[in-house]
Amino acid sequence: MSDRLYIFDTTLRDGEQVPGCQLNTVEKIEVARALEELGVDVIEAGFPISSPGDFNSVVEISKAVTWPTICALTRAVEKDIDVAAEALKFAKKGRIHTGIGTSFYHIHHKLNSNQDEIIERAIAAVKYAKRYVEDVEFYAEDAGRTENEYLARVVEAVIKAGATVVNIPDTTGYTMPHEFGAKIKYLIDNVPNVHKAILSTHCHNDLGMATANTIAGIMNGARQAEVTINGIGERAGNTSLEEVVMILKSRYAILNIDTNINTKNIYKTSRMVSNMMNMPVQPNKAIVGRNAFAHSSGIHQDGVLKNRENYEIMDPADVGINESSIVLTARSGRAALRHRLEIMGFELDKEKLDEVYEQFLKLADKKKDVKDDDVAALLGDATQKERR
Ligand code: KIV
Ligand code: ZN
Repeated sequence: MSDRLYIFDTTLRDGEQVPGCQLNTVEKIEVARALEELGVDVIEAGFPISSPGDFNSVVEISKAVTWPTICALTRAVEKDIDVAAEALKFAKKGRIHTGIGTSFYHIHHKLNSNQDEIIERAIAAVKYAKRYVEDVEFYAEDAGRTENEYLARVVEAVIKAGATVVNIPDTTGYTMPHEFGAKIKYLIDNVPNVHKAILSTHCHNDLGMATANTIAGIMNGARQAEVTINGIGERAGNTSLEEVVMILKSRYAILNIDTNINTKNIYKTSRMVSNMMNMPVQPNKAIVGRNAFAHSSGIHQDGVLKNRENYEIMDPADVGINESSIVLTARSGRAALRHRLEIMGFELDKEKLDEVYEQFLKLADKKKDVKDDDVAALLGDATQKERR
């Protein structure tokens, strides 16, 4: 029996906080519809108290989207919760996501409080939110740097107060995968009522470990992952949806965990978010980067042309990319050149191929990337006659 992981997408909340990534309500609705089509379970649509625009977006997304749960963020403050509940009034399934800092830093240097008082405020916020919605998620901000024993007390208290999901954020992206995995395991083993709620991961990427930490959390019992498209988010970003989903799919044999994501929509959703938010995807980004399925060295190209699986662990079609690409560079071999020529409609005998290949190498040493037009020019008039 496989387990099910809930995908909580926060592109429109944590992702949209990034400077320059702001979207208007119409654009947010478009992204929300794409997320629904992608199959995410929860869309975090905004932080309604933060601005009238955010409030309005949560209202309109609630009207526009039917299947996923719509979630609104709040602080552990009654006014925030009132406003979030109002924004969610059209949601078919609404969730309030409330919480407070639990680490030493947050308790003493941000909230000027103490551990017991924080637990009281956490309980009060969850109970207050429960007056409006059944589905209440609690976040223990900076849980990554919160000592496990105290975190377990917080988690038990909010579950008893009615939290249906408890989010364990690595807000500062500080933890290492073995630590984050151990934190989730500690909670599973030491919180008496943990089975009454779902534990969620929410990892930031400050040390480049957001995805690894999320997977460690899942392997130790978390059953919701908070993610964004392309990993956009505060500072170095959040865990990227496409990485988590494709890890679970590609390594299903050992993880045995399913999601509801229609993976064939991943690439187009990635492009849409990147274009709308004016946030380019780095070429070597896993799964959705321009080079994720591009092969440029001769040895790799030859191997892929013999059998794709020699150098590819995923089928690009599974994420909505038509096919892998063979890029012609000075590192390409004859096999890659012959392959490109065949695509262009040319079939050359060995002698002619050797001749063109020699010219190609000279050109490739000068150009970073040799295009079809360049190859056609190399062939010259004589070869044009050999066209199929
Ligand atoms: O990173 C974080 O801790 C958050 C919370 C508000 C969930 O984004
Ligand atoms: Zn965050």
